[in-house]
Amino acid sequence: MSRRVVTLAHYYTEPHIQQMADKVGDSLELSLYAKECEADTIVFAGVRFMAETAKILNPQAEVILPDRGSTCSLVTQTDVTALKAWRESYPDHVHVSYINSSAEHKALSDWIVTSRNVDDIIAHLYAEGKKVIFSPDRNMGAYLNFQYDYDMPLWSAVCEVHDKFNQAALDEAFAAIAGDKYLIAHPESPLPVLQKADYVGSTSGMLNWIKAYNQAPDAVIFVATEDGILYNMRKARPDLKIEQAPIYSGCQCNQCPYMKLNTQQAVERAQAGEGIRIDYLSDAQMDAARLPIERMLEFSR
Ligand code: 13P
Ligand code: SF4
Repeated sequence: MSRRVVTLAHYYTEPHIQQMADKVGDSLELSLYAKECEADTIVFAGVRFMAETAKILNPQAEVILPDRGSTCSLVTQTDVTALKAWRESYPDHVHVSYINSSAEHKALSDWIVTSRNVDDIIAHLYAEGKKVIFSPDRNMGAYLNFQYDYDMPLWSAVCEVHDKFNQAALDEAFAAIAGDKYLIAHPESPLPVLQKADYVGSTSGMLNWIKAYNQAPDAVIFVATEDGILYNMRKARPDLKIEQAPIYSGCQCNQCPYMKLNTQQAVERAQAGEGIRIDYLSDAQMDAARLPIERMLEFSR
């Protein structure tokens, strides 16, 4: 019998990579799909923490990451020994971690969240009277503290792509447009940018906002996130003027260099069984990391 190979692609991969996939989505959708799909091999055209999450949720499947270099700055900026000490300095707090974290990091967490469910999960914990610490994304944590008047202590790592969106550059771009303009933004962007946004949400959340848009037809809609998703947005609504939000001057690139390592050649090789196998996590590490992820999936059902 032939191997059942399922290919998953995040929205930030190039359009032609998305076309090679059985499922395209944001991190929550891809985690759920990885858990439930019947596959001998899952090829994860995304970044390493996503492939690790797929392995943790579907340990029977072989999981292959196409390129060794597909990491994430939220992971590389987090030293897990320092994180452990930080977590231990708040013994009476619940530790909520963003899914953009290593398996070791997840194992030090009580809850995992994605950009899609983070608001609801933290609101639920506060409603239960819990005290919360949040890692690793400082921008996302700052936004939550601002938006809901929380007082969460925050770990300090950023997404190197979203952190480049800039309020002054945005003000300039807005001033140059006489008509209506909107901004939608991913919560990994800096707080001054998020404070100007008409909508803040996950990649899928922003895509749904675009699909449902029914305001001024001539408005310019700026999008503060990685540019891969613009393909899906323009495909869904070719009638709209959708633009990448500006980043600080002198800096040209708002693409995730790690996502873009998923080239056609690398994905094809992975589909043929070559690539980075996620086979280095012990059962104990996977069990410890699975607990807070399952808590999230149960909550989000
Ligand atoms: P989503 O949870 O919106 O898919 O975002 C993942 C990510 O890496 C954003 O930079
Ligand atoms: Fe990580 Fe940022 Fe790339 Fe997302 S866009 S994978 S948060 S570096």
